[in-house]
Amino acid sequence: MEIRYYGHSAFELETKGRKILIDPFMVSVREYKPDNIYDIFVTHGHSDHLGSAIEISKNTGAPISAVFELAKYCSKQGAKSVDLGLGAWKDYSWGRAILVPAFHSSSAPDGSYAGCPCGVILEIEGKTIYHAGDTSLNSEMKMIGEVYAPDVAMLPIGGRYTMDIEHAVIAAEWLQTSAVIPMHYNTFEAIKVDIEEFKRRIREVGKIPTVLGIGSSIKA
Ligand code: NI
Ligand code: MN
Repeated sequence: MEIRYYGHSAFELETKGRKILIDPFMVSVREYKPDNIYDIFVTHGHSDHLGSAIEISKNTGAPISAVFELAKYCSKQGAKSVDLGLGAWKDYSWGRAILVPAFHSSSAPDGSYAGCPCGVILEIEGKTIYHAGDTSLNSEMKMIGEVYAPDVAMLPIGGRYTMDIEHAVIAAEWLQTSAVIPMHYNTFEAIKVDIEEFKRRIREVGKIPTVLGIGSSIKA
């Protein structure tokens, strides 16, 4: 599997020619041409996560998987959607996925209620990938560590609206993950961080800091 970063909290996972988008807010990408997109996940309704999801869904036919209320919002905008609740595995053509709680807020661009903010765990090719969405440090992460022990965790580190570096380091330990991909930082002034500090502190707790440039990817 390949994990590609598009800046902010946007990722594309690729497995056997099938691509899965998460939180496709493509503001940092000069040009993005979606191809072979099978599914799109959106963790919550804020515009820096919903991003271009509706447009990409309309153009490619790939459905948006999201918590019930957000999925209904996407359908109303003309996108295909898959409505999910928290805590139940759903099978997909490439593996399976489950929504877990995030501690944050969520509303759709029109101000309507967009359901509970979420993180998502995906099982692909026997690997477990956790995308935390926007969240504070929270004890659910201990449960996620115990039950799912993700191989890779994408964690917000920018602070202000989400966890900062200090809390992301604690989260990495609770999650029992081996590699952490930082996200939700340096997109704008309020979430600026020193990425070298992140790398140093993650290494101090015996984890691998996997910092991805815009458009770059790793094999997982
Ligand atoms: Ni948010
Ligand atoms: Mn956000």
